[in-house]
Amino acid sequence: MKNVFNRDKGLEVAKQPMFFGEDLQVQQYADMKYPIFDKLNQQQLGYFWRPEEVSLQKDRNDYLNLNDQQKFIFTSNLKYQTMLDSVQGRGPCLAFLPFVSNPELEGCIITWDFMETIHSRSYTYIIKNLYSNPNEVFDTIIHDEKIEARSASVTKAYDELIEMGYKWHLNKDKVDLYELKKKMYLAMATVNILEGLRFYVSFACSFAFGELKMLEGSAKIISFIARDESQHLAMSQTIINNWHDRNDDKDMKKIQKECEKDLYKMYDDALTVGNISIFQRKYDWVIRKTVTPICRIHGKSKNESDRPNTTIRPKNKSTSVGRPLAEFKGYTKRTTRNRD
Ligand SMILES: [Fe+2]
Ligand SMILES: [Fe+2]
Repeated sequence: MKNVFNRDKGLEVAKQPMFFGEDLQVQQYADMKYPIFDKLNQQQLGYFWRPEEVSLQKDRNDYLNLNDQQKFIFTSNLKYQTMLDSVQGRGPCLAFLPFVSNPELEGCIITWDFMETIHSRSYTYIIKNLYSNPNEVFDTIIHDEKIEARSASVTKAYDELIEMGYKWHLNKDKVDLYELKKKMYLAMATVNILEGLRFYVSFACSFAFGELKMLEGSAKIISFIARDESQHLAMSQTIINNWHDRNDDKDMKKIQKECEKDLYKMYDDALTVGNISIFQRKYDWVIRKTVTPICRIHGKSKNESDRPNTTIRPKNKSTSVGRPLAEFKGYTKRTTRNRD
């Protein structure tokens, strides 16, 4: 059974892997095995923001002036974003946290999940400000076939990990730990794709309205969300890197090799959905920045011919993996937040 506080006096914390090690003991952030997770945690906390800080007064008029097609695109995108953050607003704590055996990663995941709930609140704030009947938007999310199809691909890996993980916690002898680790790996890769690609596709759509000087308050809120997502992407990327490069768990290295084909299929699926073509034309450098590193991790480098042609480049070429589109587009600045 799982213990909320491990009383083992001889516990060697520094020898524990990120997941599936001994139960956690003291929450201390002085002597850390992976200080990068504490740094990411502190960064997330430093970026704390609330949607109410951004005025949406002009957005309501802008929305009323959109034509029917624009209203459909904006609302559908908002519904999709609400669904994705509903998943992320509980997924990390529900699926990853019960298996964590490293205190700095534990803290980082808790903050990650908390920040995702701010994103869900943001969508509610936008929807309540723009629509006379917000429930019409919320109640139809679950009935949208396309959103349902996408949610299935996003949640499958999470649900499989949770189901097998509960059984493992109840009786460790009855569950194959190697298979459970495989579920963990696929769930982490799914989240990496979600935070690194799927979200950015929807952000590009929100920013497109902002570029037309419409719904700029909403675009500003989305830019704060995009900044958070870049932190979350860095987290899942670091976890995957630790499995691959730092020998955190020898099974995981083997699993990474075994799952290589699944992984490429998952990325291909994410790259071929919905409005990715719009995204690809305008923001293909982001795709290259996010897909290429994960390909490298798996021992492959995608051919130049596989990559989309670059049409827009960031002004700052030192852009890191997953850096929010909004930053180089001027919606926000990294150090001084430009709030209304
Ligand atoms: Fe989010
Ligand atoms: Fe996220």
